[in-house]
Amino acid sequence: MNKKRLQLGMIGCGVVGTAVANLVSDSTLNSFNEIVDLKSILVKNPTKERTNLLMTQNFVSDINKIVEDDEITIVIELMGGENPAFDYISRCLKSGKHVITANKEVISKKGSELVSIAKHAGRELKYEASVGGGIPILSSLSNDFSANPIQGIRAIINGTTNYILTRMDNEESSFEDVLKDAQNLGYAESDPSDDIEGTDAVYKLSILTRLAFDVAPTTSDIHKEGINGIKQKEFRYSRELGFTIKLIASAQKRSDKLLLRVHPALIPKEIPMANVNGAFNMVEIDGGLTGPLWFQGAGAGPNPTASAVLSDLMSILEGRNRIDQTIVNNHTELLQLAPMDDYRCRYYLRVTVNDKAGVLAAIATILGERDISILSVLQKDTDSKLKHADLVIMTHESKEKNMKAAVSEIKALLDVINLDSLLRVEEYS
Ligand code: HSE
Repeated sequence: MNKKRLQLGMIGCGVVGTAVANLVSDSTLNSFNEIVDLKSILVKNPTKERTNLLMTQNFVSDINKIVEDDEITIVIELMGGENPAFDYISRCLKSGKHVITANKEVISKKGSELVSIAKHAGRELKYEASVGGGIPILSSLSNDFSANPIQGIRAIINGTTNYILTRMDNEESSFEDVLKDAQNLGYAESDPSDDIEGTDAVYKLSILTRLAFDVAPTTSDIHKEGINGIKQKEFRYSRELGFTIKLIASAQKRSDKLLLRVHPALIPKEIPMANVNGAFNMVEIDGGLTGPLWFQGAGAGPNPTASAVLSDLMSILEGRNRIDQTIVNNHTELLQLAPMDDYRCRYYLRVTVNDKAGVLAAIATILGERDISILSVLQKDTDSKLKHADLVIMTHESKEKNMKAAVSEIKALLDVINLDSLLRVEEYS
């Protein structure tokens, strides 16, 4: 360990920033303050009272106070978002500072550019905290899987949606009610759209994909569906069928093709991923040589995220230099991205129909014509007044392209009141 005192700069001081500032400044928590000083913190309002900070800090409101301070050699960026974070990180790297960030959006959208700026400047860019909070997943991928041609990554990687789905399953509450609670508890942002629409999971999946497969997908390369359309009924019927529902992020290799997707999926109850509850995350890596390995833990929160930030700080202080010199990519072939239309899985379909003769037969005919074989059918919640019923259809493994075409034909049938839900079943070998 280099014992010379180093000066740190920090950009942003929200809940994670506060945890990091306390951990590096307060000698009662650990020994960081024997080797580093947190010299300046960039915030919008330097005079705002911050009662959660254990030590007095020097706040600045001008990024130049950090970029142009030659004593500061390492900057921790915790402001989030693409801009101005991209500008601030680039300027810090170009002015000779190492940068540590927890910012998934900027690493997902501008990671390759920032890595090249860092390499050009001979400085390090570290971002362990951008994926999976306290789970040391990026360093494991970069270091410990280096002998493996990675075959697949599958993850529950957004704590907010996992909290919402868990409570919807356990308590039969509606999406809207649980989302309100998640916001009150501080899990979901006041604008939670990035979480519930799957965008946050897309950012994290793209970061994992770049490290594991040396493919840098744009956000639009990843098929994305969020959890906002999910109804309480889906949990009830899925449970009866032996499943729960999770938001899954997956990068799956099949020969020289890589399929990237984020969407809610039915998970068999007996699979460990089905039992990852609340705000927890799980990342499954199939290393090829290792077989599937599961990493589970707190995917967000001030202390877990600060742990990832500080482990990056330690690796810079110790001169370890792994992430990004070590894209795992043990594949001999160049991987191409496969379209979602090529995906194959079993499907869960719920339709509200007029409860009369020939309706099920008409739906079955459409599915049959598209080579989609029915595995089971349940008729549920028949409303004798309206003469409506729910049909819950499970299919055998079928092709996404065929299912999409069948769904639009089913929707057009006169006796189909509504196609309420189409969910994929996640397949585990
Ligand atoms: N909004 C994120 C989540 C926080 O819910 O997982 C951690 O990136």
